[in-house]
Amino acid sequence: MAVTGSDLLVAKEFLIKGELVAIPTETVYGLAGNALNEKAVLSIFEAKNRPAFDPLIIHTDSLEKVAIYVSDIPEKARILAEKFWPGPLTMLLLKKDIVPDLVTSGLDTVAVRIPNHPLTLDLLSQLSFPLAAPSANPFGYISPTKPEHVDQQLGDRIPYILDGGECEVGIESTIVGFENDETVVYRLGGLDINEIESLIGPVVLMPHSTSDPKAPGMLKSHYAPRKPLHLYRREAITMGEADTGYLMFDRYLEGADRKYQRLLSPHRDLKEAAHNLFAYLRELDALPVTEIKAELVPAGGLGLAINDRLQRASVPA
Ligand code: TXA
Ligand code: MG
Repeated sequence: MAVTGSDLLVAKEFLIKGELVAIPTETVYGLAGNALNEKAVLSIFEAKNRPAFDPLIIHTDSLEKVAIYVSDIPEKARILAEKFWPGPLTMLLLKKDIVPDLVTSGLDTVAVRIPNHPLTLDLLSQLSFPLAAPSANPFGYISPTKPEHVDQQLGDRIPYILDGGECEVGIESTIVGFENDETVVYRLGGLDINEIESLIGPVVLMPHSTSDPKAPGMLKSHYAPRKPLHLYRREAITMGEADTGYLMFDRYLEGADRKYQRLLSPHRDLKEAAHNLFAYLRELDALPVTEIKAELVPAGGLGLAINDRLQRASVPA
């Protein structure tokens, strides 16, 4: 098992040596390594069993540092950066040669983010390199929002988990890119696209593709629990067998055993629902149930990102 602690010096030393450290962010825990060190990057792919065609996000702590790694920051990107960084926003920008092709899977853009977590920002400010960090889960499984989630699944593969408590946002960052004057959203996430649109105008939603490596991050099956998950519109969810688990939005399913149910947000608050989503999926997965029934949440704002995760969790790997 990995050591879990909040010692920045320890985390820093492992990272400088090219080893991996799990880091807290406001979205989910990341599996971090020196993005400029190919060996470290390779070990990230290995530890996660992640296919090499799926590129990584690099994390740093200031716009000045971002400029070291990208050749151009379009005006819209600058506006978004000023408003939403540090925060749950990742931007695809043209990369400089200093960023290894391994990080971007050969693409000419690199995904960049300044995460909003005090401990990790402090760590990043002390490093002379950015951190490549995918979510710290085995490929295809639910992303971790607590240090113990990381330990349960990757604890035997990494030396240290930097403990920053529970992730506040709970779902991954929103990913946007810029193509011929259009802002394209590649992944719905913790930053509501309405907030983006109110600042820079309409965005284009990239539809889910399946396994096209040109559209990484859009794999159809992802975030999946081990138990089959079936998804229902709110009015269509009904009682299953006695050993069925339920992921409900704001109220229990009448008649079904409450110990097999989780409510994402009794207050109908989508932020709260996003915060609880992955932890509750894990809890249900760990219960002695044979299947999970989940209901879609209201489809606006963060609800779009939550439903996206539920949809992909419902596709068998
Ligand atoms: O909130 C987050 O973004 C978390 C925390 C740790 O920062 N990270 C995260 O990383 O979710 P990951 O690797 O699990 O998801 C990143 C997604 C991948 O699906 C990848 O395909 C996509 O970003 N991506 C990375 N670089 C890309 C690029 N150059 N073009 C298109 N998609 C890219
Ligand atoms: Mg991930």
